[in-house]
Amino acid sequence: MSTFGVLTGGGDCPGLNAAIRAVTRGLRSEGHEVAGIRDGWRGLVEGELIPLTRRAVSGILLRGGTILGSSGLDPFREPEGVERLLETTTTLGIDGVVAIGGEGTLRIAHRLHAQHDYAVVGIPKTIDNDLPGTDATIGFDTAVHVCTEAIDRLHTTAESHNRVMVVEVMGRNTGWIAAASGIAGGADVILVPEDPAPIEDACDHVLRRHETGRDFTIVVVAEGYPLTRRSGQRQEPVVQELDRYGYARLGGIGRVVADEIARATGFETRVTVLGHVQRGGTPTSHDRVLATRLGLKAAELASAGTWGRMTAVDGSEIVDVSLEEATKAHRPVPPGWIDTGRAVA
Ligand code: F6P
Repeated sequence: MSTFGVLTGGGDCPGLNAAIRAVTRGLRSEGHEVAGIRDGWRGLVEGELIPLTRRAVSGILLRGGTILGSSGLDPFREPEGVERLLETTTTLGIDGVVAIGGEGTLRIAHRLHAQHDYAVVGIPKTIDNDLPGTDATIGFDTAVHVCTEAIDRLHTTAESHNRVMVVEVMGRNTGWIAAASGIAGGADVILVPEDPAPIEDACDHVLRRHETGRDFTIVVVAEGYPLTRRSGQRQEPVVQELDRYGYARLGGIGRVVADEIARATGFETRVTVLGHVQRGGTPTSHDRVLATRLGLKAAELASAGTWGRMTAVDGSEIVDVSLEEATKAHRPVPPGWIDTGRAVA
């Protein structure tokens, strides 16, 4: 019998609790003990753990957020952070860790494994859906669902007032949420970081729609879209501030895009920034199933002592890939998706 820790790091998302439940139940049914680590890697640096029994994870499947708390603390950036983490892991008798996280959390897991032979397995989560090595991440489906519903609502009010509605969604490096919710919500213009259409094209599209009798337009823009001109000139995404762990907080491109469109077309524009609403609330059934399958696979890997891996989706199968592969470049929205959005706009 071993004792395994489970943590959630970085930005939260719906489906984390479903994953914690699956990891806990999967490991316990193999006869292991499970400890919940508080606030991501912070709990391992400072030794803050809570016992996870089958009962403790009962009723959390449908709850958004994470019962363990989350943070972006990076032990490699803290004074003696890694030494303290290694010491705590030994002192508390943790035989291995399941880290549920996005790029930051998994990069730390990879470094710990590569440099210190640390026993860790990752589970991919991020509403941004842009981790390499997996076809899907926990939280994305719910975020797309929230955004699509918001776009549906904006459609009806846009029609009534003859307006251009600009919806800013999350997606710092890639535009998965913008592309998926834009297609699902029938957006007329979708602006993403990996294939940034010139703003002049967006303005022309708005004018064309109005010339052909359509009196409203929905524009979906990912927060990481760099304002791009036909000349090739690009403005970096709008950064609000750096958070306490040094990560840039984006936001504000919706206003910039709306002002550009208003200036070029003369139409009235309004901006809706969906923000953290996209990360809140209950996970969709798709995210619950995904989190459960990825969680059970991680429990299986941990129980077998197979470290340095991340559970992943390959088509309809759950597989595992190396943490190294999972922490390479961001996985961009395939050009086919972007073409799809443009083809039906
Ligand atoms: O990576 C997930 C994400 O939601 C991004 O889409 C967004 O840029 C960022 O996290 C926001 O982070 P925070 O919650 O720290 O403001």
